[in-house]
Amino acid sequence: MKTGIEVSHSLLRFLTCGSVDDGKSTLIGRLLYDSRLIMDDTLATIAKDSRKHGTVGEDIDLALLVDGLEAERQQGITIDVSYRFFGTPKRSFIVADTPGHEQYTRNMATGASNSDLAIILADARKGVLTQTKRHTYICSLLGIRHVVLAVNKIDLVNFDQATFDRIVGDWATFASDLGFASMVPIPVSARFGDNITQRSGNTPWYRGPALMDHLESVDVDQDTASKPFRFPVQRVNRPNLDFRGFSGTVASGKIAVGDGVVVAASGQQSRVARILGPDGDQATTAAGEAVTICLADEVDVARGDLLAPLADRPDVTDQFAAHLLWMDEETLPPGRQYMMRIGNLWTTASVTSIKHRVDINTLEKAPAKKLDMNEIAFCNLSLATRVALDPYVENRATGAFILVDRFTNRTAGAGMVDFPLRRATNIHAEQFLVDKHARAALDHQKPLVLWFTGLSGSGKSTIAKLVEQALHAEGRHTYALDGDNLRHGLNRDLGFTDQDRVENIRRVGEVAKLFVDAGLIVLCSFISPFRAERRMVRELFDQDEFIEVFVDTPIEECVRRDPKGLYAKAMSGAIQNFTGVSSPYEPPENPDLRINTASDSPERTAEIVLSHLRGLIRAG
Ligand code: ADX
Repeated sequence: MKTGIEVSHSLLRFLTCGSVDDGKSTLIGRLLYDSRLIMDDTLATIAKDSRKHGTVGEDIDLALLVDGLEAERQQGITIDVSYRFFGTPKRSFIVADTPGHEQYTRNMATGASNSDLAIILADARKGVLTQTKRHTYICSLLGIRHVVLAVNKIDLVNFDQATFDRIVGDWATFASDLGFASMVPIPVSARFGDNITQRSGNTPWYRGPALMDHLESVDVDQDTASKPFRFPVQRVNRPNLDFRGFSGTVASGKIAVGDGVVVAASGQQSRVARILGPDGDQATTAAGEAVTICLADEVDVARGDLLAPLADRPDVTDQFAAHLLWMDEETLPPGRQYMMRIGNLWTTASVTSIKHRVDINTLEKAPAKKLDMNEIAFCNLSLATRVALDPYVENRATGAFILVDRFTNRTAGAGMVDFPLRRATNIHAEQFLVDKHARAALDHQKPLVLWFTGLSGSGKSTIAKLVEQALHAEGRHTYALDGDNLRHGLNRDLGFTDQDRVENIRRVGEVAKLFVDAGLIVLCSFISPFRAERRMVRELFDQDEFIEVFVDTPIEECVRRDPKGLYAKAMSGAIQNFTGVSSPYEPPENPDLRINTASDSPERTAEIVLSHLRGLIRAG
């Protein structure tokens, strides 16, 4: 692998994590300093900066070596993952420094996802905190097999063995069931160097290794090369008609020219015809190498596909169970769609059910209906397409995924696949002989959905009624779905929490789809407050089958009308989660039609909707 750094001997990737002020940056600085990799001129700059920003008097502030950003220095916190390289004669190291603030769990997960070992810091004066447990647990979730508990600032508790033993005891009780291959507690003083490169005379009672010795010698060779071959295709390379290759980085295992491979999701088989690396043709390739692979046959391969050996294939599924770490400030409501990236493949996914939340402190399973920031849950997910994946414990490369918010593009969750669910595997769509077009033709109409969204009392149902009446009079076959009505039957189990509204709209969308398939013009009146679910419903239909009508009546006007007396109740606190009062409404940005009920009468607005429709519903 060409990385710009020549790695001639073994490489250890590790991360440091712990609570704020536990001294992570100082520890990394100490490791760098003690491994004598700091150039003299760098040292000079640091010495100067220490005088400016330093918090340790005339000493060099080692944290300044790693807290790269000026902003961070001034705030005195570390706010992103930063990577450092250093080495000793025995090993090279890449260290990810991750922040300890609660809301920065995301960065911690980023750093952890490709580390072999974690140093979890605890302050000897404070012991094992919630953060310490959270980070230990996330490390185990992310498949880190080796952990070190660095009990830092041991100097500040007078190198007291009892304090150290107590902290180690607390941590071991918590962490011993998490399946780590090695757990090594070390009493250290990052600031003064105790037990960093050499065993310290201040802790004669400590019999274990110094930190650096442990980092140099710990055996982390789980050896991705011994795992089954996995090659997520990053790019289809076709410069001319004579050449077609698939470029990417081998995620695990190895393969040779002549070996049989399968495109995991489609099941198409072929053989490796050529492997092209940086220096041209090569006979084999293994984990970590960036190569272009050519196959012997013309098979369909696209970006995101996974090449695997014939005998050792990944699972291919559109539903699976996973542990999900939620990192977004916006709560996850099950049913909402997110973009999911697994390997190089993007698809849409939603959490169909949360099985349980994991209590970070006790590791107990707690019931949950939604997931807040920094929470971890075991859940089922459902995908828009079948994808190839492996359980995370078997393969970190093909078993990890992220969920991305479709509107903000923020990474909202990080997940680890536990196992595929076979539920949908044996269910195939049945094709009937009479289809949507045949049914619609009989009715001489174009089936479609008119989706009215707006606040309660905005006039959605009033307009929908008039529109339906007019359509019916013209001989159109219609059906009206209305929030208040469906909530008495199909959706009687749903209330008005965010997650219940998401599920409400999901079901309504599916029902509307059935009615469109039946050939009808469907009028839906639902507050449908979230753009994510309106978009989800829109995507169930062809482009000309879905018309979003925003009944844009200002909240003041809805409150004034208050047809059902609900605003009065909501404002007095008698109704909770009331849209516009105590629950949000996200107005559509680009509705197909925007209705102003303040300036136009219901009859006039119905006419506007009808004239928009006329062009679309000509006899089919
Ligand atoms: S949605 O938000 O899930 O789309 P839906 O349109 O089905 O809501 O139902 C809204 C209707 O339920 C309102 O018109 C109102 O009559 C009634 N309702 C009762 N409680 C609430 C509430 N907390 N928020 C909004 N509407 C409520």
